[in-house]
Amino acid sequence: MSDAAITAHDLRKSYGGTTVLDGIDLTVPRGTIFSLLGPNGAGKTTAVKILSTLIPPDPGSGTLRVGGHDLATDPQAVRAAIGVTGQFSAVDGLITGEENMLLMADLHHLPRREGRRVAAELLERFDLTEAAGKPASTYSGGMKRRLDIAMTLVGDPRIIFLDEPTTGLDPRSRHSMWQIIRALVADGVTVLLTTQYLEEADELADRIAVLNDGKIAAEGTAEELKRLVPGGHVRLRFTDPAAYRGARAALGGVHPDDEALALQIPSGGSQRELHTLLGRLDSLGIEADELTVHTPDLDDVFFALTGDAVIPSPTEENAR
Ligand SMILES: Nc1ncnc2c1ncn2[C@@H]1O[C@H](COP(=O)(O)OP(=O)(O)OP(=O)(O)O)[C@@H](O)[C@H]1O
Ligand SMILES: [Mg+2]
Repeated sequence: MSDAAITAHDLRKSYGGTTVLDGIDLTVPRGTIFSLLGPNGAGKTTAVKILSTLIPPDPGSGTLRVGGHDLATDPQAVRAAIGVTGQFSAVDGLITGEENMLLMADLHHLPRREGRRVAAELLERFDLTEAAGKPASTYSGGMKRRLDIAMTLVGDPRIIFLDEPTTGLDPRSRHSMWQIIRALVADGVTVLLTTQYLEEADELADRIAVLNDGKIAAEGTAEELKRLVPGGHVRLRFTDPAAYRGARAALGGVHPDDEALALQIPSGGSQRELHTLLGRLDSLGIEADELTVHTPDLDDVFFALTGDAVIPSPTEENAR
């Protein structure tokens, strides 16, 4: 079996005349977190629904494999390997949290005692034991989301799809959800999550694909993506005005800040670039008091890749 939990080749989907997924490729290694990032309507939910067998891809699509099984020929095996937490809650508000869990246990054909044990364990793990006997309609958004994920885990899936798991959660609940997701991955589970929050992808994902206009606009680690947009720089700060003036004169293409005795040098922040810069300073006998590397954040990348690009030039940024 390959090391990939999920592979998609030339995944296509259109509705009527509208192309939603225009041939996307994805590879998610086992035990990692992969984030599909994209604006509203980018096709994130569509991709998740296809990969979790809820809707079929277009016939022209390439091979799709999940958990080592081909989606086209063995959807049952795929279903047995995965858990899905949809964008909209699957929690039934009329029954209690515990009853929701037991319903899932039934769906997974767990024997009654085993079902009760698993439900109790997961409710405990997600801090829902106290609320377990109350109707789920009385839960807060964060509690419902936790119950949603707990329900997904009843069948002990090794691959989990989470469609916008933290949308609408407050910062504390979002952090607690992040911990839950990290714990799953530490356990060897593979997670494909969609999000509109760059911060979330940055925090959690081993790899990120930016979905835009039906295509993957870019893919890589958060750091790799950040290097795609201009705006990265190295900032050198001096306390000795003479050292500052010396460096300013010696280094070309810098943005000086005479007041702060700081120089801003455009740089992708790679080891090689830093090495070259430090080598030049050394050879000139100049020592900066502080060196900081600034990479653009994912917001810059996102806006650059999904239209509405307002990328500050190094000069503008310097003026701020
Ligand atoms: N059943 C459907 N019939 C027709 N069009 C659909 C259907 N489902 C989705 N679409 C369209 O496909 C596009 C992508 O929708 P999708 O739900 O995958 O986006 P998304 O990235 O999940 O967006 P969001 O961030 O708002 O959840 C949208 O333009 C949507 O209107
Ligand atoms: Mg969606």
